[in-house]
Amino acid sequence: MAKIMVVDDEAAALRMVLDLCAAAGHEAAGYSRADEALERLEGMAPDLVVADLYLERSQPLGFDLLQRARRISPPAPVILITAFATIGTAVEAMKQGAFDYLEKPFHPDELALRIDRALQLRDTLSENHYLRRQLQLQSKLHPIVGASAAMQRVFRHVQRVADSEATILILGESGTGKELVARALHWQSRRQAAPFVVVDCSAMPEPLLESELFGHRKGAFTGAIHDKKGLFLEADGGTVFLDEVASMSATLQSRLLRVLQEHEIRRVGDNISVPVNVRVVAATNEPLERKVQAGTFREDLYYRLNVIALPLPPLRERREDIPLLVRHFFRSRIRPGQGEPFCVSRRVMAALLAYDWPGNVRELENALERAATLGESNVIQVADLPPALQAVAAQLPEEIGSDPEDSAAGQEPAPIGGSGGLSAAPAPAPAPADSVLPLLRHFLREQEFQHIQRALAVSGGDKEKAAEILGISMATLYRKLVECENAAASGDA
Ligand SMILES: Nc1ncnc2c1ncn2[C@@H]1O[C@H](COP(=O)(O)OP(=O)(O)OP(=O)(O)O)[C@@H](O)[C@H]1O
Ligand SMILES: [Mg+2]
Repeated sequence: MAKIMVVDDEAAALRMVLDLCAAAGHEAAGYSRADEALERLEGMAPDLVVADLYLERSQPLGFDLLQRARRISPPAPVILITAFATIGTAVEAMKQGAFDYLEKPFHPDELALRIDRALQLRDTLSENHYLRRQLQLQSKLHPIVGASAAMQRVFRHVQRVADSEATILILGESGTGKELVARALHWQSRRQAAPFVVVDCSAMPEPLLESELFGHRKGAFTGAIHDKKGLFLEADGGTVFLDEVASMSATLQSRLLRVLQEHEIRRVGDNISVPVNVRVVAATNEPLERKVQAGTFREDLYYRLNVIALPLPPLRERREDIPLLVRHFFRSRIRPGQGEPFCVSRRVMAALLAYDWPGNVRELENALERAATLGESNVIQVADLPPALQAVAAQLPEEIGSDPEDSAAGQEPAPIGGSGGLSAAPAPAPAPADSVLPLLRHFLREQEFQHIQRALAVSGGDKEKAAEILGISMATLYRKLVECENAAASGDA
């Protein structure tokens, strides 16, 4: 039984369609006006809309109905009944998203047939819709931020291999986003609707991990008071993410190898195997080759896991992603209870760019969280940073953000003319690697550029007014604009 919304401005025709729906066992509600139907659309959330609207007359409400029916969740297909005279409109209606149209006069059986077909489509639609929603939700919940060439390569790699059935080994230092990438692989694969199960192989002693992964029979060992299914079976149809796979014991390595080779699993204390269909994504932050050479990791398992290797670059090799990550964390996870969102001072941004980040993105996230908690205003200052970062900041050239008000970066573009600019290269640059200053300069220039664009937008393109808003001379504004253009032309901005 489906919920059908019937809209027809002719009473007798409306009755006929309603009767036909009822005879087919559907629950139908009739409306004689498009505006009434529109009003009820979301509340009713019908599975299908059958509309006979003299569309020319009921425009734009008739088209509104078509479009809104597509936007409710899940979308409802619309069958349009139309008189020959309005065929042109019907074609337009199909373009606007009507699923089907039926010309008058028609046989009731014909309408019944179309209704069945539309409802079938709706089932498929709602399934796809569900999956798509999940995908959107997932990518919103766990977006992977990165504009650097290195991360763009990772994204392409993920896209290429996500839908293959091959086992994937994600390699990367701690905090580089291995779990995030494993999730992305799952959500971009055909297995997306089945479970994604994370197992940290370093977090448990061997016997516990064994029964966690493979399950056990009741009575298999002291304490096994119930049958346990095990995570591989829980994840059937989906993906198992084995984090820190290097720390698996020899026994577990051979059991895992069996799962990968035979696609079957035997619970602890059981002597029969059952088939299991999982894709394994593994991760490690220590090179497995070395463990293989040392004889602590099975070579055959290594080759099985390493069918596709997906290396993640450490943060210090893609520093240009740091400002993006800062913005991302301040927009998503780290937010003040009320008031302006957090941002960082220029000197803090310089320190973040200069630091080496042994703990990678996780360390960055933690540092920002800590600073946001300790800081007294929404603009994070050097004093709010962890000691290691304060030490880096202490070695930065004084010119960077030395203004006592230390204008903010990473959120709103900083005002130019004051502390910012950095148009003259700071003379001696002791601590940060040579690569950091250009990055910082690039970042500040980008902010400056955005600020100028905004001033120009506010002034309606009037450069004189824009210069006034910015508190700089016309000459400076022109120079800045030329600088920005040159930088853009050289691919720097
Ligand atoms: N590119 C990124 N964009 C957004 N957030 C990221 C990115 N990389 C990592 N993170 C965040 O940093 C934290 C650490 O990421 P994740 O747990 O995926 O790293 P990992 O490599 O598995 O770390 P570990 O080796 O410590 O287990 C998470 O909060 C994650 O959301
Ligand atoms: Mg991890």
